[in-house]
Amino acid sequence: MTANRFYVTTPIYYVNDEAHIGHAYTTTLADVLNRYHRLFGADTFFLTGTDEHGQKVQQAAEKRGISPQAHCDEMAPRFARLWQTMHIQPDDFVRTTEARHTAIVRDVLQKIWDKDLIYADVYKGFYEISEERFLTDKEMQAKGYTAESPEVVQIEEKNYFFKMSQFQDWLIGHIESYPEFIQPEGRRKEILGFLKQPLGDLCISRPKSRLSWGVELPFDTDYVTYVWFDALLNYVSVHLDRGGEAELQKWWPHAVHLVGKDILTTHAVYWPTMLKAAGYEPFQSLIAHGWWLMDNAKMSKSKGNVVKPLDLMQKYGVDAFRYFLIRDMSLGQDSQFSEQALVERMNSDLANDFGNLLNRTLKLLDKYFQGVIPSPGPAGELEQELVTLAEQTLTDVRQLVGEYKLHTALETILQLVRRANKYLEQTAPWKLAKADLAAAGSVLWHVLEVFRLAATLLSPVIPGKMQALLTQLGLSEDTLQLRWGVLPAGIQTGAAEALFPRQELIKQEDETMSETLNETTNASPEAKIEPTAQAAATTAPAAPPAEDPPENVLIDIQDFAKVQLRVAEVTFAERVPKTDKLLRLEVSLGDETRQIVAGIAAYYEPEALVGKQIVIVANLKPAKLRGIMSHGMLLAAKSGDQLSVLGPINSVATGASIS
Ligand code: MSP
Repeated sequence: MTANRFYVTTPIYYVNDEAHIGHAYTTTLADVLNRYHRLFGADTFFLTGTDEHGQKVQQAAEKRGISPQAHCDEMAPRFARLWQTMHIQPDDFVRTTEARHTAIVRDVLQKIWDKDLIYADVYKGFYEISEERFLTDKEMQAKGYTAESPEVVQIEEKNYFFKMSQFQDWLIGHIESYPEFIQPEGRRKEILGFLKQPLGDLCISRPKSRLSWGVELPFDTDYVTYVWFDALLNYVSVHLDRGGEAELQKWWPHAVHLVGKDILTTHAVYWPTMLKAAGYEPFQSLIAHGWWLMDNAKMSKSKGNVVKPLDLMQKYGVDAFRYFLIRDMSLGQDSQFSEQALVERMNSDLANDFGNLLNRTLKLLDKYFQGVIPSPGPAGELEQELVTLAEQTLTDVRQLVGEYKLHTALETILQLVRRANKYLEQTAPWKLAKADLAAAGSVLWHVLEVFRLAATLLSPVIPGKMQALLTQLGLSEDTLQLRWGVLPAGIQTGAAEALFPRQELIKQEDETMSETLNETTNASPEAKIEPTAQAAATTAPAAPPAEDPPENVLIDIQDFAKVQLRVAEVTFAERVPKTDKLLRLEVSLGDETRQIVAGIAAYYEPEALVGKQIVIVANLKPAKLRGIMSHGMLLAAKSGDQLSVLGPINSVATGASIS
């Protein structure tokens, strides 16, 4: 019997790039799959990391006048930090410049060299600068390049080649025998089609005179290897380093690589042949997903149509973003990104279907049972139907996850929630309660049990919110079980709080996008500041932009309760260029970091604020000041020309709520 294990990888990301929604998608997908398999009882391992060698990195470092290593050391943590913010939990984060990786690359090269599967040759051909690789005649044609195209240069030099062509027949046989090896089926066919043409050998080196930022070849110190021969090996190097061959064998037969369709050939052709040459078995599956498109074009920095995950999460929250990525991409196909679609998805699935039913149920529970979970009574026909559907949902979700159909899995879970809504309508416990309180209690138990099950099934996708739901229901984590009938009676639930409030499109999108396109255009000295309340840093929280707060108007406690005040610690502060009014602050709320722009530059030196605890309005709609997003407002007292930023008198836990 094969062990119940799951090993999932993402591509390792080019360290120079700024993470966008495409990177966020693959990494979220890996995290979600990993969490599902863990929930289903498997022993799991999830690997991601950064790809740090090559010409572009060398050039970027040269431009900055620092070493490539220093450049990489600065850039790589941005990815790790983003994954942390997104509640993505890899078991390891590999960097290709780490000694633990480069040592293995050299070992494998030596092994293949010793088997006489690498040779030196003088090669003359067209080299695509942006992709850092030689193109075949066919690829030149397909891309519409000629010898004069600026995208390519003709190069003649000695290099080392891997005898990839020797493995062509073996590879075709393997792909034909194992349909799950390349998925979806369309991509498998594409690769089999590609392999109908004779497969060439693969150039794996660069002379150091042209590129030094790579892994030195063990058999020729004038050459380095980089990009594919270096990067692909990350999938095995980490395990070999952690525990040698035994550790690798523990995970390797279960390896599932997630990649975008643009790096299909490298993973479906180069990688298995490299493994074969080195004496390793092929991985289990390669899953190629489609692209997130903006206005029908792939997102890329050069096109300026990049969607930044951090912006979206700050506006709508981590879990809403994760849910949208998984729900709105059918794996294998392309998907059109729009912020409007994200908001609609949140409102329809999470706020309406899930959130409304939950609120109604908790209100009924409060009214008739003082918030204590009642016992289930004998199951009638309607209850039987609900239980049958719940059990079917459990089976279906497991199967759909196994088939990488996560968007359908989510839809299936939501259907169960919708069915519970119908059940509530059919049974009308608000009427039933008058005649038979126990029967009304049984209905509520059944609906709450659907929520417990839905929380279990949704926890890999929206872990934060489902944890909050458990807390709200007074349940512990060990109630996250994949079977019907776990909900304990007699538990006191917590106060009903909207888990998924309805969202509206937050309008700064257009401005943000155009600024990404052209960062210099927003340097106008007259850049508008809005809403004024944010820049003025007055003690009036969330005052409407153009109006002064009316004096002596009494407000209800509920109005004040809408304002979330929290203690934040300033971790970084600097002046905003070209204005003497604004400071840009980075503040920590314990579980998240925010950027806030405040009109206090006339009163404080930036350094004087770092390390201080201050009070912020945490639920203010984001606004843009001088082209910089501000996610909250600090409080300050102002009198004449004096201003004092407010904070706690004694130090308290960062992030503490103020009430
Ligand atoms: N460094 C190589 C991978 C080496 S793996 C041994 C690389 N890096 S990358 O940063 O350019 O891209 C990584 C992944 O992001 C690829 O899988 C690519 O498909 C994915 N995406 C880049 N843009 C994308 C979209 N717009 N949408 C979805 N994913 C896309 O390639």
